[in-house]
Amino acid sequence: MARTKLVAGNWKMHGSLATNSALLQDVRKGVAGLTADVAVCVPYPYLDQARGALLGSNVAWGAQDVSEHVQGAYTGEVSAAMLADFGCRYVIVGHSERRSFYGDTDAVVAAKFEAALKSGLVPILCIGETLDERESNVTTAVVTRQLDAVLARCGVAALGQAVVAYEPVWAIGTGRTASPEQAQEVHALIRQRVAREDAGVAAGLRILYGGSMKPGNARELMAQPDIDGGLIGGAALVATDFAAICAAAV
Ligand code: PGA
Repeated sequence: MARTKLVAGNWKMHGSLATNSALLQDVRKGVAGLTADVAVCVPYPYLDQARGALLGSNVAWGAQDVSEHVQGAYTGEVSAAMLADFGCRYVIVGHSERRSFYGDTDAVVAAKFEAALKSGLVPILCIGETLDERESNVTTAVVTRQLDAVLARCGVAALGQAVVAYEPVWAIGTGRTASPEQAQEVHALIRQRVAREDAGVAAGLRILYGGSMKPGNARELMAQPDIDGGLIGGAALVATDFAAICAAAV
């Protein structure tokens, strides 16, 4: 099945009204007419700015986290319905920084995934092993456990409306990219795991790679049969780099 590639920027906690304004305009111009789907996931306060700058373009916008709760006394949290209100298409759930710094367990991530879907958002589910885990040869077990938590809570059909991002933690922000072969091996394993539940969902599932993807390595990574795009951190803050990665997604 032909899967349209998706390149999503994860701005993390970067930006200001002034710098975003230039970045959003440059991204909008830089990716106009490309065949890949493109999105930027911005900090919450800038969602309205992203909407204003990107409306009517081929760039979607989204957030980097979401509450697992619908509404209520959860000071500081932001619900999926609020993100939908701001026109978000995507929301990242389970990023390794949320898992490691903010205690997002597999169960919490699955609940956030479900909350996102219920509000019509497309969750980008991040999974991936740490360096220790890779060196202990438990990559398969870790990635499968993270995926299975979502399958158990939401069912395989839910994955048909979502995106998965394989982000080896040791490659995030380190400049140390997984080789295309290393990444492909895990992407194939993820697809096989989903195929055990539903071959059709597996065939249509977009699995992004994230972790130091740059203009210089994007094409080779995304040429792998099971790599359907990228989740881009650092390089998403430089419009020319981000546009070059999007152009490599063919
Ligand atoms: P990076 O971040 O591209 O800076 O490695 C990727 C991510 O954390 O999503």
